[in-house]
Amino acid sequence: MKTVQDILEQKGRLVHTIDAGKTVLDAIGELANKGIGALVVVRDGKPVGLFSERDYTCKVILTGKRSENTPVGDVMTRELVVVGPETEVSECMALITEKRIRHLPVLDHGELMGLVSIGDIVKDIISEQQVVIEQLERYVYYS
Ligand SMILES: NC(=O)c1ccc[n+]([C@@H]2O[C@H](COP(=O)([O-])OP(=O)(O)OC[C@H]3O[C@@H](n4cnc5c(N)ncnc54)[C@H](O)[C@@H]3O)[C@@H](O)[C@H]2O)c1
Repeated sequence: MKTVQDILEQKGRLVHTIDAGKTVLDAIGELANKGIGALVVVRDGKPVGLFSERDYTCKVILTGKRSENTPVGDVMTRELVVVGPETEVSECMALITEKRIRHLPVLDHGELMGLVSIGDIVKDIISEQQVVIEQLERYVYYS
């Protein structure tokens, strides 16, 4: 079974982070510049939460907070759902579906070593299914 480690080997281990003390305006600037939907929030280099586009819409825009003076740490999602490098891709899909989330930071012995998103997981599952389809086509063709 394929694991998170397999996805990271393709995608790379870079994780875009932001310090909890930075402002929401800094965070949405980063999301736009990097073309991503979430940042891992860190304090003293340790992951303490996640700030996503959904956090911005629900906890900043809808509540009338000001992006320029609200710290990311005040509006981040604190309950981090994380996976490890050995977590199977099917388990990631189950977590994303059950918990209705789109980003899974990858921790190895407490250290941040990557991030997989719903798009990474769907891409991997589609490519696995393509392999199975090709094998079945060959089987049908030669039998
Ligand atoms: N073709 C591909 O390889 C591929 C992979 C992922 C997503 N996508 C597409 O991009 C769109 C949005 O994707 P999404 O909903 O998965 O979310 P997203 O926009 O947050 O993620 C896009 C990519 O950026 C990466 N990323 C996001 N936040 C990151 C962070 N903080 N640190 C490091 N990497 C980070 C993700 O792992 C993913 O590879 C969708 O249309 C999806 O289909 C394509």
